[in-house]
Amino acid sequence: MPGRFSRRILVVEGDITTQPVDAIVNAANETLLGGGGVDGAIHRAAGPELKEECRMLGGCRAGEVKITRGYHLPAQYVIHTVGPVWRGGQHGEDELLASCYRQALDLARSRGLKTIAFPAISTGAYGFPLARAAVIAVRTVLECLSRSQEITRVVLVCHGDRAFHLFQDAVTELFSEYDGREDRNNAAPGEPASAWQEGGLGEQARAEIQIIEVIHGIRIVNKERLVDEIVRHARTRQHMSRITAALNSWVAIKGIVGETEIPDDELDRIMTGIDK
Ligand code: APR
Repeated sequence: MPGRFSRRILVVEGDITTQPVDAIVNAANETLLGGGGVDGAIHRAAGPELKEECRMLGGCRAGEVKITRGYHLPAQYVIHTVGPVWRGGQHGEDELLASCYRQALDLARSRGLKTIAFPAISTGAYGFPLARAAVIAVRTVLECLSRSQEITRVVLVCHGDRAFHLFQDAVTELFSEYDGREDRNNAAPGEPASAWQEGGLGEQARAEIQIIEVIHGIRIVNKERLVDEIVRHARTRQHMSRITAALNSWVAIKGIVGETEIPDDELDRIMTGIDK
């Protein structure tokens, strides 16, 4: 089961042009000659050489990818992809969007790249619904990562609070789906945690912390204390999963390795942070 799980996936809010990764993904158009949104930001940050190299690529079809150097970007490469234009969802848009993520990861892996950052492809000018795109992006990334070990970190870079929370929720959804604990606890979403047997909540907290240990290859020595604190704090099942997803991001951002103890004050900060 842990093998199915992503090695590392991180949701951040910010500007993809500043990401210190091996490759950033550009949400381009079929000409690959620049545009607005993230395409414009990447071309501005990379410099004019990027467009000169793109001219030689002969364009790119929706769902496919092409790679160039990153020039003045912190990232060594730019993987250009063209997302689907949203036309109501009955024209293969979901699969085309998934193909953008899948082909970008396959290309990165084939070039021996380890870390890659994605914007929320197609969710701007191309009008793809953000929540739907978030689920497609997270599922596709995790499916790809569970099949290969080479990519060590995928950063989903969100522009704005709403995108960040939708992508974070898509990751949280994965935690709560991970072992189908919903049916075992028989509590309706949003029902007060007190409606559960204590074991159900504690069991879910322990399992989700174990998932974090597997993802990051670490051992959390004060796991039982974390379980107690999170069970005391969580109001519902969904609230519990948001806490563990935020803890997962904290572990990734801190670059925790080996044996570690999560300080009480850090856990308090994480839990109060998502309650805002
Ligand atoms: N960093 C990260 N994300 C960004 C940035 C940035 N600097 N700038 C914009 N975004 C976000 C947007 O908020 C949106 O969520 O990227 C997402 C994709 O939006 P667009 O850039 O509009 O891309 P897309 O919807 O795929 O449309 C592509 O727009 O810019 C043109 O040439 C491009 O024709 C193509 C079309």
